[in-house]
Amino acid sequence: MAQYINNDEMMRVASFYEPLRQRNLLFEQEFGRKPRAVVETHGCQQNENDSERLRGMLAEAGYDFSDDINDADVVVFNTCAVRENAEDKIFGRIGILKHIKEHKPHMLIALCGCMVQQQHIAEKIRTVHPQVDLVFGPHALYRFPELLEKAYKSRKTLLSVDDSDGAIAEDMPVMREDAHKAWVSVMYGCNNFCTYCVVPYVRGRERSRKPECIISEIEELARDGVGEITLLGQNVNSYGKDLEEDIDFADLIRRVNDIEGIERIRFMTSHPKDFGDRLIDAMAECDKVCPQLHLPFQSGSDKVLADMNRRYTRAEYLEKLNKAKARIPNLALTTDIIVGFPTETQADFEDTVSLLEEAEFDMIFSFIYSRRVGTPAAKMESVLSDEQIHKNFERMLSVQNEISRRKNEAYVGRVCRVLVDGESKTDSKMLTSRTDTGKIVNFAGDKSLAGKYIDVKITKAQTWSLYGELV
Ligand code: 5AD
Ligand code: SF4
Repeated sequence: MAQYINNDEMMRVASFYEPLRQRNLLFEQEFGRKPRAVVETHGCQQNENDSERLRGMLAEAGYDFSDDINDADVVVFNTCAVRENAEDKIFGRIGILKHIKEHKPHMLIALCGCMVQQQHIAEKIRTVHPQVDLVFGPHALYRFPELLEKAYKSRKTLLSVDDSDGAIAEDMPVMREDAHKAWVSVMYGCNNFCTYCVVPYVRGRERSRKPECIISEIEELARDGVGEITLLGQNVNSYGKDLEEDIDFADLIRRVNDIEGIERIRFMTSHPKDFGDRLIDAMAECDKVCPQLHLPFQSGSDKVLADMNRRYTRAEYLEKLNKAKARIPNLALTTDIIVGFPTETQADFEDTVSLLEEAEFDMIFSFIYSRRVGTPAAKMESVLSDEQIHKNFERMLSVQNEISRRKNEAYVGRVCRVLVDGESKTDSKMLTSRTDTGKIVNFAGDKSLAGKYIDVKITKAQTWSLYGELV
C-alpha cells in the first residue's frame, strides 16, 4: 500500500523556505542581484519531471535561474544510473564544478536522483569529491528546501540517501518547462527486477498516486492552457494494483480522456508482460489518446528474455503488438533494445534483428548493455567480445534506419494535425512541431503559432523527421 507524506511533514519542510529567503535577501544586498540556480537533468522523463519540482522549490526560496554553471550560485545535478556512460558524464561535470568552486567558494553543489541513491556512489562522492555539499536520493526530493538550508550550515557533505520505498509527496511547487505540454507521474518505482536494471534498487517498489490527485493535477494544467500531457510510470500497466480503489491504467486514461481542455494524452512505459486488451481497447476508444505505443522488447531471443527476467516470449510480444496494430489505425510504435546482454550469442542477436524487421517500429531506443553494480546480470560472463557487440549495434541501427525512413516516407502527401513547439533549434526560420503519432514535423511559419494545433501537409521525409507546409 502506497504511503503518503502527511500535511504536517509538508508544513515542516515548507518552514525552511523562510530561512532560505532571508539568506537570499542578504545575498542580494551584498551582490546586487538574486542568487542564481542551475538545475541540470540527466536521464529519463521522470527526472525531467522531478527537475521541474526542484526548480519550483528553488523559485519559492527566492532564486533566479541560469543555464550556465559558470554563472551559478547553486548547482543541482539530477542524475541517472541506468548506464555507466551517464554516470561517467556526471562525474566529468562534477570535476568541472570543482574548478569553478575554487574561484567561487560560496557556490553550493547538490546532487540528487538515481545515481547517488546507490550506496557505493554516495560513498565515493563523500570521500573523493568533498566539494559536493549535498547528496540526496529520489525519496528525499520533497525535502529539498530543508536539505538545502541544512547544507548551507553544514561543514561536511550532507547525505540523505536512506533506503526506502519513498512515500508519495503531493503538491510540491513546480516550475514547468513548457506552456503547452506537461509530464504527469501516475506512479513511482518498479517491481520487475529485470536482471540488468538498477531502477528497482534506486527508485524502490511500485507506488501509485491516487486517481483524484492525478485528475486534479491534470484539470489544473488544462485550466492553465496545457493541452498535451504524458502520463509517466516505470510500468504504467501496474497502475492501481496497490490502491484500495478498484482502478487500473485503462480506467485512468478513460477518466483523463474526459477532462475538458486536454487535447492529447500520451503515456510511457508499458511492460509487454502486463500490456493487454483492456489498455488496447481504451486506447482505441478514447479520442484524445494518441496512436502511439512505446513497448520495449529488449531482445528478440527467448533465451535472453528469460535471462533478463522479462517474463514474456518473442511470440507473446509479437501477438500483443499485432493486436494493437490491428485495433488502432495509424499506430506509431517505438521500443527499447539492449545489445550485448551477457548471455547474448550471435544467434540471439540475429533474433533481435529479425524481430526488428518483423515488427517495423517507427523508432527505436537502443543501448549497449552496461553492467550495473548489485544487479544479477552483473555477475554473468559475457559471451560476445566488445568489438562484436559494437559491430552488432551498428548493424542494428542501419537495419532500423531503413525501416524508420520507409515509415516516414509513407507520411508524404498526408495532411497531419500538429502541435507547434516553437522555433526549430537548428534553423530559426523553421518551426518544429509534432503529430499525434509523435513525429517531428518542421515547416516554415510564424513563431506566433507556438502552442497551436494546426494542419500541415507533409512534403518530405527523412529518417528522423518530416518536412511540411501550412495548409
Ligand atoms: N544497460 C543498458 N541498457 C539498459 N537499460 C536499462 N538498464 C540497462 C543497462 N544496464 C535500458 C532498457 C530500458 C531503458 C530505459 O534503458 O532498454 O528499457
Ligand atoms: Fe528496469 Fe525492467 Fe523496471 Fe523497466 S521494467 S525499470 S527495465 S526493472
